[in-house]
Amino acid sequence: MSVAVCYAPAGRKGPTTMTSNVIQPVGIRQVAVIGLGLMGSGIAELVARSGRRVDAIEVDQGFLDQGMARLHASLDRAVSRGKLTDAARDEILARIRPTVDLAAAVADADLVIEAIPERIDLKRTLFAQLDEVCRANAILATNTSSLSITEIAGGTRYPARVAGLHFFNPAPVMKLVEVISTVLTSPEIDETLALLSRDLGKTPIRVSDRAGFIVNALLVPYLNHAIWLLETAQATREDIDKAATAGLGLPMGPLTLLDLIGLDTALAVLETLQAEFGGTRYVPAPLLRKLCDARLFGRKSGRGFYDYQRPGSPAAAGKDHEVGPVPAEVALIREQDDSLGELAGRITAAGISVVPHPSGQTGLVIVAADPKQRVLDAAMATAHPADVVGVHFIRAGNFIRAGNGEPGLAELVLPDVTAAGMAAKAAALAARIGLNAVISRDRPGFLVEALAYAQFNDAVRMFQDGYASPADIDTAMMLGCGYPHGPLQMLDDAGPANVVSVLEAMHAATGDPAYTPVPLLAEYATAGIRFRS
Ligand code: CAA
Repeated sequence: MSVAVCYAPAGRKGPTTMTSNVIQPVGIRQVAVIGLGLMGSGIAELVARSGRRVDAIEVDQGFLDQGMARLHASLDRAVSRGKLTDAARDEILARIRPTVDLAAAVADADLVIEAIPERIDLKRTLFAQLDEVCRANAILATNTSSLSITEIAGGTRYPARVAGLHFFNPAPVMKLVEVISTVLTSPEIDETLALLSRDLGKTPIRVSDRAGFIVNALLVPYLNHAIWLLETAQATREDIDKAATAGLGLPMGPLTLLDLIGLDTALAVLETLQAEFGGTRYVPAPLLRKLCDARLFGRKSGRGFYDYQRPGSPAAAGKDHEVGPVPAEVALIREQDDSLGELAGRITAAGISVVPHPSGQTGLVIVAADPKQRVLDAAMATAHPADVVGVHFIRAGNFIRAGNGEPGLAELVLPDVTAAGMAAKAAALAARIGLNAVISRDRPGFLVEALAYAQFNDAVRMFQDGYASPADIDTAMMLGCGYPHGPLQMLDDAGPANVVSVLEAMHAATGDPAYTPVPLLAEYATAGIRFRS
C-alpha cells in the first residue's frame, strides 16, 4: 500500500485509533478473495482484470479446482467473443494465485474479500481468524448477500475495518457494487471501498447495514412472488418469465434469474428479510424450500426451475401452450374506450370474422381485462361466460418502451368459469395474428402488474423508511439487475393512483397485507406527486 493507514497499534493487529486517510485505489494492489463459488470466482476475475494481484483461496483442492475452472471458462468465453486477446487472458491468469493456504495468502493482502457460503458461524470464525493473520492496515470486506455485516464484524477485535462489498451476478458484468457500512465501520474504509469500486469499473452505492441492502430487499421478494404465482397455478413458468421480459423489459424472467442466482441464496436472503422485518411478504414459497431440500439449486447444480442437463438450450426447452384450432368467429365485447379496437382490426385482417355479440357460431368471446377487476364479472355479463377470455395489453410506453406503437405483450386472462379448450383457442388466435401473449388466471394484477406493483410498493417503503433515495433505488436496480428503468421511474410511468388501485384489488382478493399500499405511496397518489421528477 502506498498510504500507511494502521488500524492496530504498533506490534498488534487491529485499530485503537483511526487516521483520516482514505486509501486511493492505486494503494490496493494485492487482494485476497476467499471462496471461489459463483460470486468469488467472478470477483477474482474482475479484480485481476483491473491489474491487481489476486490470491484466490478455497478451503480444499477440489473446490479450488472447480472455482478456477469457472474462472478459466469465463475468460475463455471472453476470448472466443473477441473481447479479450489470448495474451490478455494469460496475463490476467498470471496475476491470480490459487491456493488453499489461507494464512499465508492473506498475510500481505491490502484487501480481503470474503465470498464463502452464507453461514454466520463460518463467517464469524473466518473473520476472527483474519483479524489475527492479516496486516494491521488490511481492509476486510464481505460479499454477503443476506447476513448482518455488523454481526460478522462483531466477531473481530477491530470492526472499524470491516465493511460489505456486495457484487452482483455475473460479477464481471453487472455494474453495481453496494458498499455497506456498519455503525462501527470507519468512514475512511467506506470511502476507500467506494473509490476502489469505481476503479474496478463499477458504480458504488453506499448504504447502511440492513437486511437485503437495496437490491436484494427489492429483488428477492419479487422472485419469491413469482414462485408463489407458479405454485398457485397462476401461469406456467415460461409465461411468468415472459411477463417480466416482454412486459417489463427485464433482461431475464424471475424463474430464470433464480436459477442463475442460486435457489439456496434466494432462500437465505428471504429468511434474513423475514427475521428482520416479519410480515407476509418475505415468507418463502413452499416450492422454493422443496427445491432447495431436493438440492435443485439452479444452474450451479444442473437443475432448478429449468433443467440444464438436458441437451439443447435449457431455458428454451419449456413447453409451449397447447394450441387449438383457430376460431372462425370471434365476439369482441368493445368498451366505450375501445381499447380492443386495434385487436379487432388485426383479427379481421387475419380473415377471422369479428362480431359484437356472441351467438351459437362464436368460437371465442373476448372482453377487455382490467387488472383491478375480475374478468369473471365481465364474463357473467355475457350470454356465454364459458367462452370468455379477457385480453389486457401491456403497451409500449408503459413498462416496456419499444417505441414502435405495437403492444408489447398481451395477457390472455382466463376466469375459472372458462371452458377447457378456450386457452388453446386463444393461444391459436394470438399466434395467428402475431400477438406476443401469455396466459394468466383471473386474479387481480394478472402477471405483469402483480409482479411489478408489489415490488414498486416495496421500493416506496424503502424510501419511506429513509433507507435509500428514489434515485439510488432506481440506479441500484438498473445497474445491479439490468432493469431498463428503475422501479420508481416505472411506478411514475404507470401512475401512482393506478398502482394503488391494483394493489388494493390484490389485497382485497388475497387478504394478504403485503399488498396494502404503503402510506407514502397512497399519499403521493392522492397528491399527484411523482417519485422521480
Ligand atoms: N460471467 C462473465 N461474463 C458473462 C457471464 C458470466 N457468467 N454471463 C454473461 N456474461 C457476459 C457476456 O460475455 C457478454 O459480454 P460481452 O457483451 O462483453 O460480450 C455479456 O455478459 C452479455 O452476455 P450475453 O450476450 O451472453 O447474454 P445477455 O445479453 O442475455 O446478458 C446477463 C446476460 C448480463 C446475465 C443479463 O441477462 C442480465 O443482466 N441479467 C440480470 C442479472 C441479474 O439480475 N443479476 C443480479 C442478480 S442478484 C445478485 O447477484 C445479488 C445476490 O446477492 C443474490
